[in-house]
Amino acid sequence: MMRQSARLVGQILQELKAMIRPGLKTIELDKYAEKRTKELGAQPAFKGYRGYPASLCVSINEEIIHGIPSDRQLKEGDLVSLDFGVVYEGFYGDAALTCPVGEVSEEARRLLAAAEGAFWAGLEYFKEGHYLSDISHAIQTYVEARGFSVIRNFVGHGIGYALHEDPQLPNYGPPHHGPRIKTGLVLAIEPMIAAGNWEVEILSDGWTAITKDRSLAAHYEHTVALTENGPQVLSLVSEEEQADREKGVHYA
Ligand code: MF3
Ligand code: CO
Repeated sequence: MMRQSARLVGQILQELKAMIRPGLKTIELDKYAEKRTKELGAQPAFKGYRGYPASLCVSINEEIIHGIPSDRQLKEGDLVSLDFGVVYEGFYGDAALTCPVGEVSEEARRLLAAAEGAFWAGLEYFKEGHYLSDISHAIQTYVEARGFSVIRNFVGHGIGYALHEDPQLPNYGPPHHGPRIKTGLVLAIEPMIAAGNWEVEILSDGWTAITKDRSLAAHYEHTVALTENGPQVLSLVSEEEQADREKGVHYA
């Protein structure tokens, strides 16, 4: 069940990514995400969550997370992160990615690569025998080795019957602390990183989190399950698979 909801999120995120171009209003991404979700028999998970007003979070440049879609248009050189979740038959899926709008700076390219790389570095420790904080530590080490910083005010989380379940998963901290990882655990692992300092400010809309120093930020997230066959990235839909899907080729 969780695979199904997470795959819907991955698929819709890939469709949204393909829409990204200069001039696109961020509200158009939100409308598309909501319409597709309902077409596929699911419901948006974020809309109404603690009063969040939209289905999608769109965070641009120094915005880290929880950017509210609006009439703002994307422009060449922007770094845009899309964070999306659905509930399908009572189970939640949650994922995020960051992508360039046209040509972006070298720093922006390095930052988004670091957010993705940090996710995979953390996933290395998503195995029986490791501690939860081993994931946190691996993410922090990877990000800081590249000269960037990890946002501390927001965390990854358990996911399943609710969008946010225990345990919390910080993206920093010492290894070998807290609970041990066990088969059956499903997490949203989500490094949020900044090119500058990690301090955060919340805009007057009550949601949008930005870097205090206005440096660029990036976010990358997947819903992952530890199965008897090892870790599986439930919300990952590869670009090849997405291309096949658009041609009408379907996977089991
Ligand atoms: N991926 C984010 C999270 O895990 C999205 C939450 S947005 C909200 O918490 F609107 F639902 F709050
Ligand atoms: Co999340």
